[in-house]
This record gives sequence, structure tokens and C-alpha cells, in this order.
Amino acid sequence: MNSGRTRASAAPEDSMFQIDHLGIAVKSLAAAKAIYEKLGLSVSPEETVEQEQVRMVMVPVGESRLELLEATSENSAIAKFIAKRGEGLHHVCLKVPDLPAAVERLKKDGVRLVSEDVKTGAGGHRYVFVHPESAGGVLLELVQA
Ligand code: CO
Repeated sequence: MNSGRTRASAAPEDSMFQIDHLGIAVKSLAAAKAIYEKLGLSVSPEETVEQEQVRMVMVPVGESRLELLEATSENSAIAKFIAKRGEGLHHVCLKVPDLPAAVERLKKDGVRLVSEDVKTGAGGHRYVFVHPESAGGVLLELVQA
């Protein structure tokens, strides 16, 4: 059904977007990654992301990935999430074709972002988080393709 679809004329094609990864908050990486290894998936080496106070691994699944996140500090967003809601799905990450343009569009529309600016993460990738309040209760991460 196409009846409900709307798109700004300058917007990019659907095919330029992708689910980059699903972020999962866990108490223990070692424990959490075991299920994926048992399934026969390969798990990346552990990496620490200082600015987010997390240790993480990536599990490639087809064209997407699972990101397992363990807090390295009580002040980490992941530690706070687990304290409040327990382990589980933490965020959904979409790869977008033009991140600065997307952020500008969202801000103009009054969408609430977790931080005002696009951040640079491990490996130089650029990202921003949309607040769950503006995304149907889901913490939405956007990364530059
Ligand atoms: Co993520």
C-alpha cells in the first residue's frame, strides 16, 4: 500500500538507508556473546569506547550487526539503562546517506536529539542519537554511511 507514503522531494531513496546495527545492553560481554558463538556467528574482538564508557563487540549478521554493550563505569548510559530496565535491546542504529542533512532536517522539525552535535566514534565514524521521546520509545542512533 502506497497511500500513506509521503516524502520530501529532496529526500534520499529508501535503498540508501540500512539497519546498521541493533545495540544490546548486557551485564557481561563474555556471557552475552556465548549464544552467538554457539550459533556459529563470529564475534569481533572486544573494544573499549572511552567517551561512551562502554566495552563492546560486534556480531555481523547478514548485512547488519548486533552490538553488545557492557558498561565500564556506573555513570555509563548502559549501566543506568540496565539499572532501570535490565538487560536487553538498547538502541536501533540506522545508516543514513547524509547525516548532517538528516540532523538539520530533524532539528528543524523539533525532533529531540540526545546531544546537539554529531559525535565522532571509534574508527572515525560519525553518529548522533535521537531521543526515544521523538522516536516511538526507541533510542535511535543515526550513523553516516
Ligand atoms: Co550503536
